[in-house]
Amino acid sequence: MTKGLRKGLTSYGDAGFSLFLRKAFIKAMGFSDDALDRPIVGITNTYSDYNPCHGNVPVLIEAVKRGVMLAGAMPMVFPTISIGESFAHPTSMYLRNLMAMDTEEMIRAQPMDAVVVIGGCDKTLPAQIMAAVSTNLPTVVVPVGPMVVGHHKGEVLGACTDCRRLWSAHRAGEIGEEEISAVNGRLAPSVGTCMVMGTASTMACITETLGLSLPMSATIPAPHAERVRSAEASGRRAAEMAVAGGPTPNELLTPAAFRNAQVVLQAIGGSTNGLVHLTAIANRTKHRIDLDTFDQIGREVPVLVDLKPSGLHYMEHFHHAGGVPKLMKQLGDLIDLDAKTIAGGTLRDVVKNAEDVPGQDAIRSRDNPIKAEGGMAVLRGNLAPRGAVIKQSAASPKLMQHTGRAVVFESVEDLTNRIDDPKLDVTADDVLVLRNAGPKGAPGMPEAGYLPIPKKIGSQGVKDMVRISDARMSGTAFGTIVLHITPESAAGGPLALVKTGDMIRLDVPARRIELLVDDAGLQKRQAAQAKLPQAKTPKRGYAKLFAETILQADEGCDFDFLTGTED
Ligand code: FES
Repeated sequence: MTKGLRKGLTSYGDAGFSLFLRKAFIKAMGFSDDALDRPIVGITNTYSDYNPCHGNVPVLIEAVKRGVMLAGAMPMVFPTISIGESFAHPTSMYLRNLMAMDTEEMIRAQPMDAVVVIGGCDKTLPAQIMAAVSTNLPTVVVPVGPMVVGHHKGEVLGACTDCRRLWSAHRAGEIGEEEISAVNGRLAPSVGTCMVMGTASTMACITETLGLSLPMSATIPAPHAERVRSAEASGRRAAEMAVAGGPTPNELLTPAAFRNAQVVLQAIGGSTNGLVHLTAIANRTKHRIDLDTFDQIGREVPVLVDLKPSGLHYMEHFHHAGGVPKLMKQLGDLIDLDAKTIAGGTLRDVVKNAEDVPGQDAIRSRDNPIKAEGGMAVLRGNLAPRGAVIKQSAASPKLMQHTGRAVVFESVEDLTNRIDDPKLDVTADDVLVLRNAGPKGAPGMPEAGYLPIPKKIGSQGVKDMVRISDARMSGTAFGTIVLHITPESAAGGPLALVKTGDMIRLDVPARRIELLVDDAGLQKRQAAQAKLPQAKTPKRGYAKLFAETILQADEGCDFDFLTGTED
């Protein structure tokens, strides 16, 4: 098989000339023939001034390069798109598939025998793994690592669960301008990803569980020296994989690996976004994530990791308690230890080396869980025929069975305009409904599912209400919030039929979400809906591609032409 610089020659109709020309140009960078004859490890560069979560990427790239060269291979760094969560308009999810396409095609187009993808901010690891699966080149994932915690008035703070909690307190008038401004400078005290169990941490834990990154790589804090050493070891391992030609992502991503990932997703009280991303990754293989199986796993797997937003601690505490290897050890027979990893062995080797940390309380045992059931539950009913999810570990127990009057917002814009209107007819027992915020409708399924508590209700001390939508929610958020209602309203889902004043029943133990309107009434509304003018769709560019090919949440929100394998 062709390797190194000879791979994927540019087409000039003369292979010898193509290689001659390629070498002539790359020598302009000062490379020797010895260097150019080595196996090549590509390294993605996702550094961007717009992505503070990736602020340590330059240091990690140098460490990966060192590891590659110590193992006798040749590192080649190349840029790809970088997506910083709070700098992506309209929402980072709109760009995830673009990053996946960019990464996939640049891995395909350029000669490399293995690749190290460095990422971390929410959509970046999913995009990079989707690309790695589709190219099926030996891949090592290097997460950038979580931030260290902040402190304010003797309290430990973390982005962004505490961003939301303290902003809500500010909205309710409990925290003044001066203090909220001080808090603003303390919530994100270092580079790295959000240090609660948000989407970035969730995806890093899933990546480690899938065997695509080295043990402990999900949890080592971004600024720690250990993070840099882990990057060096990742480079070394990628060089070995470049020579051996494997393992490839498709060799690692077996049904057992996907089941393990779902077990860990439930046990960490992970982000609901993790389910969408894991589904998208699976859909690039010949395996699938089934929502009912995922829900069943949740009934058997307790939440063991005590991290915000479901619990108390932060990622550095999880790390010092033993990280993902220790969690998998605690999960015992719920994890299939025969699953292989890029480290060369199986999860059995990883668990055998898990550290025992006396007195740690961030990773519980199965007989002393944080929550008896897993973090997420899948709901169905006449409002969500293809499913919806709730992060039950971060919801209010008293609202898990609740019937309330719907207060409907037509779009994110309508929500923004009216939620704090003193004239809004709303009580704490109502159910806030947001629609047209799904994959097609918004577009990009923004993290608008965490509808703010209306100011006039918040100022009465109310911290939670039932909120439902076809949107997503940040993994760092909390509350009794039903998300990913599928099909979404803009794709003809029944959420489009809800009227303010209708009654909605949520029953999490029974896994139901129902609009209490009879079938005849719903059919009448459906017929009336069909007569309304259709929403305009984009005519050009990425927006057109997105609108025409985006899949629903239960299919991972990938583009329909990117799923599956070539054969
Ligand atoms: Fe990048 Fe939270 S904003 S991980």
